Amino acid sequence: MPEQGADRERRRRFTKTPGSSGRRRFPIPCAAPAKQSGFVRPFPEWRVVTVHFIGAGPGDPELITVRGRRLIEACRVVLYAGSLVPREVIACAPEGARVLDTAPMTLDEIVDEMRAAHAAGKDVARVHSGDPSLYGAIGEQMRRLDALGIAYDVTPGVPAFAAAAAALERELTLPGVSQTVILTRTSTRSSPMPDGEELAGLARTGATLAIHLSIRSIGAVCETLAPLYGADCPAAVVHRASWPDERILTGTLADLAKKVRPLRLRRTALILVGRVLAAETFDESALYDAAHHHLLRPRKKKRQAAG
Ligand SMILES: C[S@@+](CC[C@H](N)C(=O)[O-])C[C@H]1O[C@@H](n2cnc3c(N)ncnc32)[C@H](O)[C@@H]1O
Repeated sequence: MPEQGADRERRRRFTKTPGSSGRRRFPIPCAAPAKQSGFVRPFPEWRVVTVHFIGAGPGDPELITVRGRRLIEACRVVLYAGSLVPREVIACAPEGARVLDTAPMTLDEIVDEMRAAHAAGKDVARVHSGDPSLYGAIGEQMRRLDALGIAYDVTPGVPAFAAAAAALERELTLPGVSQTVILTRTSTRSSPMPDGEELAGLARTGATLAIHLSIRSIGAVCETLAPLYGADCPAAVVHRASWPDERILTGTLADLAKKVRPLRLRRTALILVGRVLAAETFDESALYDAAHHHLLRPRKKKRQAAG
């Protein structure tokens, strides 16, 4: 079995086999309707999980999932990425919980906290911004936990690109304009892009782009993209989407950088690029077309003429 598959299988066993590692301390309470519907996993399945990776959403505490909030409310250790997750999101941690901002901590220190919590029979809410699967550095934490035999699970979150699209009140996939969204970033000295994932290469697809971690390079981003998308291509920057001080700047690849520069934005901003951002003339989707029939809206049978 390839390494990845073996890891996955080990993880699956950790999370499914009661009593294989650690003890479950207390059932996580959940809303009755969800429980009745069968959506909420039954208590025994959660028995051995110590660390809950949780997507905090883009900032607004109302944009965390119900499950994510429920887990934070129940965990006696809360480790949150304070550079992007506001304190309001973890304010629901139980009284007396050990709550730590991991922004100034090293990976070793974070894992030590998880290990100590596991040994003490305490659950950990590991809270990351947006959705933890995107630029969340959870892969390396999971690898350490696998090595330690500490089980974990993941609760997804609202990613920043979705919050930015909501702030712009735009659909990122319009029929006939763009049906693909590329979530990407640009290189920094500490995080170079892998071969084949440079912005210019991705831009050749013409897809809608959501560019993370790149606001400091807004000039270079627009310069790279203008020859490929056209200098008149709509582009936007959403700074701190969903936060009380959210800012939206819209323009084109020709003028966006000039508009953004005076604000001296350094972080927590997303660059969106694509014709979808300003398209007014686009096809309606076939899904709701009265002439289009499908499984859930079958063609009505013509009534037999009586007599
Ligand atoms: C380390 S990544 C985390 C991404 C996150 N996991 C997600 O799902 O969106 C941080 C980058 O995400 C983007 N970002 C995160 N939160 C944001 C927000 N509220 N508004 C705009 N951009 C945000 C910015 O590009 C920022 O540099």
